[in-house]
Amino acid sequence: MTGAGNGDNSAPAAAPDQPAPAGAQDWPAPAGAQDWPAPAGAQDWPAPAGAPDQPAPATAAHAAALAAIHAAAFQDDPWSEAAIATLFENPTTFGFIAPAGGLVLARAVAGEAEILTIGVAATARRRGIARALLGAALAEARGRGAETVFLEVAADNDAAIRLYRACLFRPAGRRRDYYGPGRDALLFTRPLS
Ligand SMILES: CC(C)(COP(=O)(O)OP(=O)(O)OC[C@H]1O[C@@H](n2cnc3c(N)ncnc32)[C@H](O)[C@@H]1OP(=O)(O)O)[C@@H](O)C(=O)NCCC(=O)NCCS
Repeated sequence: MTGAGNGDNSAPAAAPDQPAPAGAQDWPAPAGAQDWPAPAGAQDWPAPAGAPDQPAPATAAHAAALAAIHAAAFQDDPWSEAAIATLFENPTTFGFIAPAGGLVLARAVAGEAEILTIGVAATARRRGIARALLGAALAEARGRGAETVFLEVAADNDAAIRLYRACLFRPAGRRRDYYGPGRDALLFTRPLS
């Protein structure tokens, strides 16, 4: 497992470093989002009823948008567009994007799924986007034959831990110093059956 689904969110191994996208408002609209007004700014763009908060399947074609959203969610450690595109070269990878500013990337192989990363732009939080994204990812994982899903999260990432507990994940272990001295990771898991 990569341990990428955490608050610190290290870039995938072998991913070339690239500068962070310029800003959350710069991400290209995913396919199907054309009917929604372009956000005026990262702080307060209007959310038309429903659609922008809804997860849509993401592919390598969305790598630029995913990278921009990732940067808006993980401001200290954004994943590059190239790194995200590389993930999609592996057919076990899948993901969803919420045009309002959310993403989840995951993979499923041999009956197990892993959440690689999930994040919501700071200005789009607490309106159910992450819960919807996680639900979409779990359904896709189940459809790909996964029976169990797991993820890692920084032990001090209270918001994410509350999200996972609300989505029926349960703690399954602790990796001491996983993110550096004194910075542990918690392993969470849940069955998909
Ligand atoms: C964690 C994160 C993805 C949550 O995204 P979100 O869209 O705001 O979450 P949701 O609105 O779907 O919240 C679903 C539930 O999670 C819990 N939750 C989410 N954020 C919370 C917070 N800040 N404080 C307390 N509970 C929180 C609540 O139970 C919430 O349900 P409720 O709103 O009905 O109380 C978002 O805060 C984020 O992107 N953080 C930075 C990146 C990160 O840490 N990602 C996780 C890596 S493991």
